[in-house]
Amino acid sequence: MSAAQDWVARRGQPLRGSLRVPGDKSVSHRAVMLGALAEGTTRISGFLEGEDTRATARVFEQLGVRIETPSASERIVHGVGLHGLKGNTAPLDCGNAGTGMRLLAGVLAGQAFDSVLVGDASLSKRPMRRVTEPLEQMGARIGSEAGGLPPLRLAGGRALHGIDYTLPVASAQVKSALLLAGLYAHGDTVVREPHPTRDYTERMLAAFGWPIEFSPGFARIEGGHRLRATDVQVPADFSSAAFFLVAASIVPGSELRLQAVGMNPRRTGLLTALRAMGADITELDRREQGGEPVADLLVRHAPLHGIEVGGELVPDMIDEFPALFVAAACAQGDTVIRDAAELRVKESDRIATMAQGLRTLGIAIEETADGAVISGGRLRGGAVDSHGDHRIAMSFAMAAQRAEGEVRIGDVANVATSFPGFESLARQAGLQLDAA
Ligand code: S3P
Repeated sequence: MSAAQDWVARRGQPLRGSLRVPGDKSVSHRAVMLGALAEGTTRISGFLEGEDTRATARVFEQLGVRIETPSASERIVHGVGLHGLKGNTAPLDCGNAGTGMRLLAGVLAGQAFDSVLVGDASLSKRPMRRVTEPLEQMGARIGSEAGGLPPLRLAGGRALHGIDYTLPVASAQVKSALLLAGLYAHGDTVVREPHPTRDYTERMLAAFGWPIEFSPGFARIEGGHRLRATDVQVPADFSSAAFFLVAASIVPGSELRLQAVGMNPRRTGLLTALRAMGADITELDRREQGGEPVADLLVRHAPLHGIEVGGELVPDMIDEFPALFVAAACAQGDTVIRDAAELRVKESDRIATMAQGLRTLGIAIEETADGAVISGGRLRGGAVDSHGDHRIAMSFAMAAQRAEGEVRIGDVANVATSFPGFESLARQAGLQLDAA
């Protein structure tokens, strides 16, 4: 965990220079998982050395997988094959990571041994029925706490069979859990989504040599094949770059280059939204890295205006709403967000926590069941609480760069779950941010 529990942030310099944010969290989780289940040695470069992804690596170590760390951003995973994991009766701790727990539930549902997945206080309040119900339809047996909450107790030795499942809510985590369970299932596993979500599991299964059919909103795999080790190059995380895209857009005089940012179209919805608001963001040197599109992003300050965000765009920017709330608070006019009820079950209730904090900073904001209406205005100083949610903490650090007074941001230690080194990178870019 980062040492700071609270930050004090205030207006700094215009954001300038060129920086590279850490590796993608979604890709890093999956690379460790598939590397562990593959035959042979998988080398991961650009790995996110965050609390969440380290927790996933630790779980596989507990299950008998040897993982070397030649440097902070590299892992060498000595795969044990699809049936090579060893049971461990100790609880498997996913920390703060919803992705870790939900995807692991898919992997562990098909093992010969029992296992127990646990998480921290925040993860222990997040809904798991969305994965346990369809996994049980596949033949798994999973115990949980009242309301379907963690810990999850997965019975071993269950024979799984494929299902054809239409997700009630667009969720890459649920889709991925079912596809991973599908590796162990008899027959075909088909997942259909109401809106397309990030397709890293599908792409990576293909890269590891597993036959898979997929298109936006659809995936089908068949059990009974093998995963073959391959090297994985992890792009820089668009979700981490997002904070800087917003900060440089709202702070006059900014001109910042973000290097080699992952540009998977299922992740870049915020770019679409910010451009619709009038942001000045240019893609430079678009290229492929490890099978994923990446580009440098050059962002310059620009006056923003309010827009409406909903529908298909929501899953493409699901983790970027806290940052969008900040852009909206600094924009002229109203920004209307709808179809985003999922925000209420993230690391915090992100509609409520952003609304509470922005109100404290003087912004008029009306909460709705599935979004908010944010009226752009002048930000003042004040004390806000991130409720242990990494993305809320970083969003308020950005908001503070436009505030007329000092902003004290509480409960920020979890920033280390997804963005180790955030404080120093932010300072390097020009932000004024200190441990309180
Ligand atoms: C993720 C999927 C999204 C996202 C999360 C990472 C993934 O969650 O919010 O940060 O890696 O599959 P949902 O599937 O719950 O929308």
